Amino acid sequence: FFACASVSVLWLFSIGSWSQRIQSPKHEETATTCPTVGRGSRAGSYLSFFDGNKDEYVRRYSSFPDTLRVKMKDMARDMFYFGYDNYMKYAFPEDELNPIDCEGRGPDVLNPSNININDVLGNYSLTLIDTLDTLLVLGNVTEFQRAVKLVIDTVSFDKDSTVQVFEANIRILGSLISAHILLTDPKHPFGKVGFEGYDNELLHLAHDLAVRLLPAFENTSTGIPYPRVNLKTGVPADSVNETCTAGAGSLLVEFGILSRLIGDSTFEWVARRAVRALWSLRSNQTGLLGNVVNIQTGQWVGKQSGLGAGMDSFYEYLLKSYILFGEKEDYRMFQAAYESIQNHLRRGRESCNEGEGDPPLYVNVNMFSGEIVNTWIDSLQAFFPGLQVLNGDVDNAICLHAFYYAIWKRFGALPERYNWQLQAPDVLFYPLRPELVESTYLLYQATKNPFYLHVGMDILQSLEKNAKVRCGYATLHHVVDKSKEDRMESFFLSETCKYLYLLFDEDNPLHKSDNKYIFTTEGHVVPIDKRFREKQWNDFFPCEEGALAEREPHSPPCDRIPEERRYTLPLKSVYMRQIDHMVGLF
Ligand SMILES: *[C@@H]1O[C@H](CO)[C@@H](O)[C@H](O)[C@H]1NC(C)=O
Ligand SMILES: *[C@@H]1O[C@H](CO)[C@@H](O)[C@H](O)[C@H]1NC(C)=O
Ligand SMILES: *[C@@H]1O[C@H](CO)[C@@H](O)[C@H](O)[C@H]1NC(C)=O
Ligand SMILES: *[C@@H]1O[C@H](CO)[C@@H](O)[C@H](O)[C@H]1NC(C)=O
Ligand SMILES: *[C@@H]1O[C@H](CO)[C@@H](O)[C@H](O)[C@H]1NC(C)=O
Repeated sequence: FFACASVSVLWLFSIGSWSQRIQSPKHEETATTCPTVGRGSRAGSYLSFFDGNKDEYVRRYSSFPDTLRVKMKDMARDMFYFGYDNYMKYAFPEDELNPIDCEGRGPDVLNPSNININDVLGNYSLTLIDTLDTLLVLGNVTEFQRAVKLVIDTVSFDKDSTVQVFEANIRILGSLISAHILLTDPKHPFGKVGFEGYDNELLHLAHDLAVRLLPAFENTSTGIPYPRVNLKTGVPADSVNETCTAGAGSLLVEFGILSRLIGDSTFEWVARRAVRALWSLRSNQTGLLGNVVNIQTGQWVGKQSGLGAGMDSFYEYLLKSYILFGEKEDYRMFQAAYESIQNHLRRGRESCNEGEGDPPLYVNVNMFSGEIVNTWIDSLQAFFPGLQVLNGDVDNAICLHAFYYAIWKRFGALPERYNWQLQAPDVLFYPLRPELVESTYLLYQATKNPFYLHVGMDILQSLEKNAKVRCGYATLHHVVDKSKEDRMESFFLSETCKYLYLLFDEDNPLHKSDNKYIFTTEGHVVPIDKRFREKQWNDFFPCEEGALAEREPHSPPCDRIPEERRYTLPLKSVYMRQIDHMVGLF
């Protein structure tokens, strides 16, 4: 069995054969090529597998001493403070820290079309706001309170800034709501963090911002919002009528919580209407959605369907909305979407940890035909194993995560796009994204397998080695030559550092069994709370209640992995070796 399994790996040496096979989802493997063992110069490296005692994967990954765990936790904490303290010293009240020049960065006013900057930087102290709840996760109550007061005293959204609705929602609105809830949580999960005189100012700020985002939902004939608004003047004249699916369809978690906190259904209503509109445009053949849509005509402008850029958090928020609000409609949509994904995007062998064939991988296809449209996967898709964990599909999560980890090992980072056919990056930058760490953390919570602590350590050490600069951590411009760009996105502190710290912090309040939390797509902590399952208004869209499947998602799904697997590798070493080889590690 293993012999043939590893033989099928040998086929991968021929790039053509893998890409051919990965393009036909139901390819039947045969074992008739067993005799080719030993062919080719690299084949010898597989033979070491048969020498079980010396298996390098088992040796490397199957334990993680507690002292090392504490050391890594401290390293993650120091990483956060190095970035945070320098932001406060050199950049605040501007939006971001330029970590090489040690200066602040705000919107690019000279070049309004520089959306790479202006979509995100609204001249509203972005990094400080995005970081609030991370301070609590790290247990720094005094600094959290100081930061909250600074936000209250200095931040205003009455700014002539044109930002992306999606970015403002996940980074700013989500953080304000999360910090407000944690400040007022009667269960005090992080100890006494509320302070004298707090008068719901963060909630008022969140509400003010959300009102400024509302014009995006007007004058669109589908209900799918415009991608950008000016915080002072609304939707700019001559705005594009095109938006990506994730941008328009990942607002429900934050807008829904806001509506339920203030008892005004407007926000949830517009967010839900957008999700429903997108959902109604899915292909009736494949059940898939595209990545870019015209908000006036409902025509798909981008017909690519995948799990990365442009689509990622759309799926994430269907499931997370259900977990938070308990609306069955959201779970039905998620289940149907997940099934379409498994049927049309997933390639490779059927089972992660059994059988022969290529490792499972999710490719980009045409939403109508299901045909593969390119041979790259992007760095953002590395979030998906975390979502699979939330959905209870730990097995598939393990395999997809292992693929991204192998890419990380090769480059010490994740290239923005990796071409699995050419075994090379297509797009070379790495802006300190959190998605792989996020999945690593959720898989560790689900399996408690020390393998994931090693993954976290590798990530931490590569960031120290490749990205650390004078005043913080810098975007890698080029994952091969490790040249840098002078930018540290706010998600580095709010997500990358937070998930790294949580991975190694066994005793965090978030890990106590009576505290149940979910993370927004920007890593903001939100309790799963009865309050959010109640609403003061009637259903906006009364509709037939279909049967809800028996299996409900759990968060996190501890104990789903057989006991024995907790103490060995999550993925058999023959398969790890296969993946490492496929991404060119040896
Ligand atoms: C940011 O906002 C402040 C105060 O409203 C204003 O004075 C400043 O010009 C703005 N900066 C940019 C880059 O827009
Ligand atoms: C909290 O953060 C501040 C600012 O970085 C720092 O000076 C202080 O030492 C931190 N406190 C703890 C307990 O970590
Ligand atoms: C919607 O269009 C109408 C008519 O063109 C215009 O008066 C109104 O200001 C628009 N609303 C928004 C929010 O742009
Ligand atoms: C967007 O659509 C509206 C309504 O169909 C149209 O009037 C406007 O010109 C379009 N904008 C652009 C930039 O194409
Ligand atoms: C499926 O959608 C296409 C257009 O996308 C439409 O022409 C066709 O009638 C639809 N088929 C069914 C069975 O609804």
